[in-house]
Amino acid sequence: MAKPDSAINQRVQAVGQWIDDRFPISDFWKQHISEYYAPKNFNLWYFFGSLAMLVLVNQIVTGIFLTMHYKPDAELAFASVEYIMRDVEWGWLIRYMHSTGASLFFVVVYLHMFRALMYGSYQKPRELIWILGVTIYLVLMAESFMGYVLPWGQMSYWGAQVIISLFGAFPVVGDTLVEWIRGDYYVADATLNRFFALHVIALPLALLALVVLHLAALHEVGSNNPDGVEIKKLKNPDGVPVDGIPFHPYYTVKDLFGACFFLLIAAFIIFFWPEFGGYFIKADNFIEADNLVTPEHIPPVWYFTPFYAILQAVPDKLMGVILMGAAVMILYAVPWLDRSPVKSIRYKGWMSKVALALLAIAFVRLGMLGLAQDTNIWELRLWTFIYFAFFILMPIWTSLERTKPVPERVNYK
Ligand code: HEM
Repeated sequence: MAKPDSAINQRVQAVGQWIDDRFPISDFWKQHISEYYAPKNFNLWYFFGSLAMLVLVNQIVTGIFLTMHYKPDAELAFASVEYIMRDVEWGWLIRYMHSTGASLFFVVVYLHMFRALMYGSYQKPRELIWILGVTIYLVLMAESFMGYVLPWGQMSYWGAQVIISLFGAFPVVGDTLVEWIRGDYYVADATLNRFFALHVIALPLALLALVVLHLAALHEVGSNNPDGVEIKKLKNPDGVPVDGIPFHPYYTVKDLFGACFFLLIAAFIIFFWPEFGGYFIKADNFIEADNLVTPEHIPPVWYFTPFYAILQAVPDKLMGVILMGAAVMILYAVPWLDRSPVKSIRYKGWMSKVALALLAIAFVRLGMLGLAQDTNIWELRLWTFIYFAFFILMPIWTSLERTKPVPERVNYK
């Protein structure tokens, strides 16, 4: 009975060998998966990188199916989305998987970034992983903004109008820039068409390429961990880090468990609460775009609102736009602002802990204020100030505070 099975096995191995002689597939598998030694103390925070990849794949696959029925035409776009929702077999599911996926992408990426800030994963030698990460974040924002315009609902239309007009704040070139982005004198068919092209091909390609570079940079230096201990410093006679375990099967199984849990939550939202109380899809976006009727309140989607709040903290439009841009761009500087001799928050002093907690609170509070219709300008300014103070004062407290000694081996309980 075992014979046919082993014959099949032999065949598979022969095919594998044939490919291997021509393409280094097993070397790749070994280097990046089965013999990639990751620290054995990864915790829950280390789920979010693989979850971000899972969501990226979901967005691409569901996006391909949506594109089969969507019409990038100002006259037809809204109706084509309604058609997908009502008439295309399983269209409603594909659409909600895509729209929910967009928001979950940001949930996962924000937690992933917070983990990096907590454990100093941007510090030497991982600066490039962080820089690529911030670039991914920028591209992701452009990608989701353009995607949001495509259903051509009231919020799509007026959101685009508000965001594009921000570029008009720049002196001299502002008006030309706005016209150039729109491709018309107002948000119109030309705008929708170019956003479609960028959303379905240019930006996803850029995202994919950046993620590959992000992971290549990570595998070059190796993963950080909750203790911020460099596991490569202590190796056994075979050259394997003593605190490292092969990524496969240990972390493939762990990540699979995380993915199942995540998919359970995602499925609950997709099936029972896809608009998520207006946070994921606004009610106004179920009304077709009308350039003669401005909605009463045009807040951006939740993941942009912290930056939208920062924009509103300054009455001058140009200053607001500059400050909003600076709020994102300052992330690039983080690896050089942190002067601490230790990486992980576990061994940093109390100032780092308070500062990181304040940053998180400021970011969430700004997000809430960015969604609200009436805000207190002084509260906006206070949280904006705290947000920037985190970055600007980082070199000071990280050099001043007393740190705890970092153990030689990782903590693993
Ligand atoms: C599409 C978005 C992204 C994907 C698919 C992605 C994927 C990953 C994966 C799979 C890992 C290794 C596993 C892990 O550490 O969780 C990782 C590590 C890392 N990522 Fe990302 N990432 C994304 C966005 C970002 C962003 C926006 C940042 C920061 C601005 C970032 C910063 C980092 C850092 C610093 C590490 C190293 C962590 C460590 O070793 O402790 N990533 N990323």
